[in-house]
Amino acid sequence: MLLKVENLKKYFPVAKTFIERLLTREERYVRAVDGISFHIEEGEVFSLVGESGSGKTTTGKVVLRLIEPTSGRVIFQGRDITSLGKKELRLMRRHMQIIYQDPYASLNPRMRVGEAIMDPLLIHKIAEGREAKEMVLEMLEKVGLTPPETFFNSYPAYLSGGQRQRVAIARAMITRPKLVVADEPVSMIDVSLRASILDLMMDLRKEFGVAYLFITHDLAVAKYISDRIAIMYLGKIVELGRTKVLFKNPLHPYTKALLSAIPVPTPGKRKERLRLKGEIPSAIDIPPGCRFHPRCPMSFEPCNKEEPELMEVEPGHFVACHLHT
Ligand SMILES: Nc1ncnc2c1ncn2[C@@H]1O[C@H](COP(=O)(O)OP(=O)(O)OP(=O)(O)O)[C@@H](O)[C@H]1O
Ligand SMILES: [Mg+2]
Repeated sequence: MLLKVENLKKYFPVAKTFIERLLTREERYVRAVDGISFHIEEGEVFSLVGESGSGKTTTGKVVLRLIEPTSGRVIFQGRDITSLGKKELRLMRRHMQIIYQDPYASLNPRMRVGEAIMDPLLIHKIAEGREAKEMVLEMLEKVGLTPPETFFNSYPAYLSGGQRQRVAIARAMITRPKLVVADEPVSMIDVSLRASILDLMMDLRKEFGVAYLFITHDLAVAKYISDRIAIMYLGKIVELGRTKVLFKNPLHPYTKALLSAIPVPTPGKRKERLRLKGEIPSAIDIPPGCRFHPRCPMSFEPCNKEEPELMEVEPGHFVACHLHT
């Protein structure tokens, strides 16, 4: 097992107004990630899927310890990274990289492409000089930026969104990490280019054996690439399982709703659309009981009182819903 996340929580304190400070001493929190557990195998593609605000990005950042967890453990290659000191954490970083959503913001405009990709090699003292340059040229070729010498010397401003994301991928892969957190890596890229970027990521996984924690709001994208998928809702995992199983036999009403929103490729073959009531509530005022119950078409007696636990209903298939206890 490469990564194990245990009961992870991240609460952000809510800033109070002057009046609120006078009236109450009670602190309020955004419960962005509210107790989640999962694991990722070596070389696996594991996706976190959920609507905006469900806590996907926060999870990815805490897993890499770019932000500190409120509680819980993140065990990477057998070590709890939440307890590592600064120096140990820096050494660990070469094995865990990130690809961000926005290829326009993630690259330094004043750095040539070659320098940007070489940077992690220098930081982690993996290679320098001629050797480092050779490694960068080889990586440029692998991510499809050819001829590599031309791209080595260009500035990000001259590249398209898709090309920039290839640079970001090259930069993440150059240290040969074991885990890459990819946070919506194709959502800002032209639709026509998305599949080629995803295919590239899958080719690199085959070649290097890297595992991905893939973050997306798009179940169709998750289906295309994932071995397993976890569905998140308001800071919790509500269903988790192998991709095939989840699509064939979704159990949570929220998963069913997300699935029914994916367009069907064959025209004429209409499927019933499960519509959700209302909007996703604020992560400050999470509904009592099952946090999904106010929007759930199947809600019944215990749902507004008791919080359902994530239970294994068949091997490897977990769901948190009172319909399945
Ligand atoms: N630094 C922060 N301070 C306060 N609240 C935060 C902070 N970062 C995230 N949040 C809140 O935590 C919740 C989860 O946010 P997060 O960005 O993890 O969601 P997400 O699933 O990645 O959403 P999206 O699909 O929009 O990227 C949201 O309510 C968000 O407003
Ligand atoms: Mg996000």
